[in-house]
Amino acid sequence: MKNIKLDYTNTLNFLTEEDILELKDEALSAREKLINKTGLGSNYTGWVDWPNVITNEEIEDIIKTAKKIRNQSEYLLVIGIGGSYLGAKAAISMLDEYFNNKHELKIIFVGNTLSSTYTKELLDYLEDKSFSINVISKSGTTTEPAIAFRLFKELLEKKYQDGAKDRIYSTTTNHDSVLHSLTVANGYKEFYIPDDIGGRYSVLTAVGLLPIACCGYDIKKILLGARDARKYYLDTQFMDNEAMLYASIRNILYKKQKDIELLVVHEPKLSYFNEWWKQLYGESEGKNHKGIFPASVVYSTDLHSLGQYVQDGKRNIFETVINVSFPEENIIIKGEDNNYDKLNFLTGKTLDYVAKQAMKGTIQAHVDGGVPNILINIDKIDEYNFGSLAYFFMFACGISGYILGINPFNQEGVEAYKKNMFKLLGKPGY
Ligand code: PA5
Repeated sequence: MKNIKLDYTNTLNFLTEEDILELKDEALSAREKLINKTGLGSNYTGWVDWPNVITNEEIEDIIKTAKKIRNQSEYLLVIGIGGSYLGAKAAISMLDEYFNNKHELKIIFVGNTLSSTYTKELLDYLEDKSFSINVISKSGTTTEPAIAFRLFKELLEKKYQDGAKDRIYSTTTNHDSVLHSLTVANGYKEFYIPDDIGGRYSVLTAVGLLPIACCGYDIKKILLGARDARKYYLDTQFMDNEAMLYASIRNILYKKQKDIELLVVHEPKLSYFNEWWKQLYGESEGKNHKGIFPASVVYSTDLHSLGQYVQDGKRNIFETVINVSFPEENIIIKGEDNNYDKLNFLTGKTLDYVAKQAMKGTIQAHVDGGVPNILINIDKIDEYNFGSLAYFFMFACGISGYILGINPFNQEGVEAYKKNMFKLLGKPGY
């Protein structure tokens, strides 16, 4: 795809083109399973066609509601955990400026932790602020967001009495959910999560799109990026299909004992994209005592903390670097007469040029040190590319999970801690 380019040259010291071709049939069969819904967990593959399935009516409704929220409040609390917040947080962090955001609405994510300090300090902070709530939970029963919703709803009702319900927006399944029942009973505005789309594959539904639209970002462009990516990855033959190649190469590396994948970004505003990706791959693939452990770093920052380990620690790591070819801003480094800091060798160079040389130098050093490198180039950061990149990684994750031989769409392992917690808390039935 022209806005996402994969360069796997720096894996070829560790695997061969033949290794990749050997996986061709498996990757193609995995794609067929995704398209025809014949693979494991196929009742959760609604995300594959979703960019074409979402209706204009729903898109317009999200945009209209976002406008209303912007006019009504200074703050939007997005209550959700895991797949119910990471996609929106990744997109907003990626698209926001670092210091000078154009959107006036401030988003606060809550319900993704049980920290009493965070929650109490936020409750105090919001006492004199105007705010609305978007509570997001597909099951409607997840403990962290459910508790947060109870607490912040109480504050909202104290502040706005009857008007509170006009400031609550719920995103959930449209049946069999406590949150759905609460929504209907109180007349909150509701957006629904399709039954066949799981949390970590839901960023392109109202789960991600409503908070993103609240920040004024163009969700139509996001969906267009995803639609174009869908068409490309569903139609394109194996050797030109970056999503299938990425899925195949990471599985080959895994078989060669590279069982930790570090997603590397050089632009700090992508650090929440890392978090979204970690959940996507960790929860999708970590099953049956198998799976690549997904970790992430922001370079060059983390070269000064984890760089030593990556260069010279246990050789079970490979890196996948997301490189943004053109930064949104750039700075030319000027010369100084006295050159006390000895930096005049950089005179006339841009800061991004320095960053790119740091990236190239790091890739070379790590490859020389035994760390294979997959490079994913995107031209720039914008809504279209966010949509394409999100689709790229979801599609590759589905293919990769099937190659690995697991169900990439369930997450039964997450239930284990909940059972113990509920037992300890004395929840009836546990
Ligand atoms: O990917 C998933 O399915 C999970 O991470 C869920 O998104 C997360 O557990 C939150 O679930 P829910 O939306 O039901 O509150």
